[in-house]
Amino acid sequence: MSAPVVLITGALTGIGRATALAFGREGARIVVSGRRDDAGVSLVKELRELGAEAGFVRADVRHEDDVQTLVRHTVERFGRLDVAVNNAGTEGKSGPITEQSPESYAATFDTNVLGTILSLKHEMRVMLSQGHGHIVNLSSTFGSRGAAGASMYVASKHAVEGLTKAAALEGAAAGVRVNAVAPGPVETGMLKRVAGGADKIAAMAAAVPARRLGTPEDIAATIVFLASDKANFITGQIIGVNGGKTAL
Ligand SMILES: NC(=O)c1ccc[n+]([C@@H]2O[C@H](COP(=O)([O-])OP(=O)(O)OC[C@H]3O[C@@H](n4cnc5c(N)ncnc54)[C@H](OP(=O)(O)O)[C@@H]3O)[C@@H](O)[C@H]2O)c1
Repeated sequence: MSAPVVLITGALTGIGRATALAFGREGARIVVSGRRDDAGVSLVKELRELGAEAGFVRADVRHEDDVQTLVRHTVERFGRLDVAVNNAGTEGKSGPITEQSPESYAATFDTNVLGTILSLKHEMRVMLSQGHGHIVNLSSTFGSRGAAGASMYVASKHAVEGLTKAAALEGAAAGVRVNAVAPGPVETGMLKRVAGGADKIAAMAAAVPARRLGTPEDIAATIVFLASDKANFITGQIIGVNGGKTAL
């Protein structure tokens, strides 16, 4: 097959951006998406400097029209969709469950859960009709564990894992694989916003058996592997990338 066609949501920062660059170095053709045109244009420039064919589509994953346009644009431009990375995510607003509201629920679930559902819906329609495709969703260590004060985020990532397994079963016989990566703490803007200070970040790193935070590149490398033919018999799985945190 010629260079794979890869779509990434929330690709303009952190793990999404590192994933785009990792696929770019592998020679993929890439559509990056996000909510900021200036950052999108600048990432496309970087990808082209690596020799990758690349384009940007503005898309907020909470809106079905945006997601549909993103998938349609990718297929119109490159003729197919081989790999989709559903990375867009938000930490939402932390706080005890006694202070949650329909608004705080929506602020987290509309991106992390509805966004993943809409992405899976439109990506899988294309992949099922092609008879092949690999999807990687972004979960978290908190997709299978609890965390006091982060109930909306925790619940949303549990939902991402359920969606991953259900979608994998719908795609398996048709050659469409769906997996999730579940990172531990990774040095990105999200981690900085959640931790709120250098001492808290250092404490997070110290709590990882490998005694360091993950890098966006650690996660990107796993995503590139999962989306490759080397992972052809892996589907419906949640792959922890966390320096040993869930072995504790
Ligand atoms: N960092 C960690 O420790 C960690 C651990 C486990 C899992 N994760 C997961 O990894 C994924 C990437 O996060 P990150 O750590 O790389 O943080 P990040 O740098 O904040 O990246 C999140 C990206 O998602 C985008 N986004 C948010 N809401 C969106 C929406 N409605 N539509 C489209 N894009 C949207 C953000 O764009 P804007 O700039 O427009 O907001 C941002 O580019 C997330 O799903 C996160 O939950 C992260």
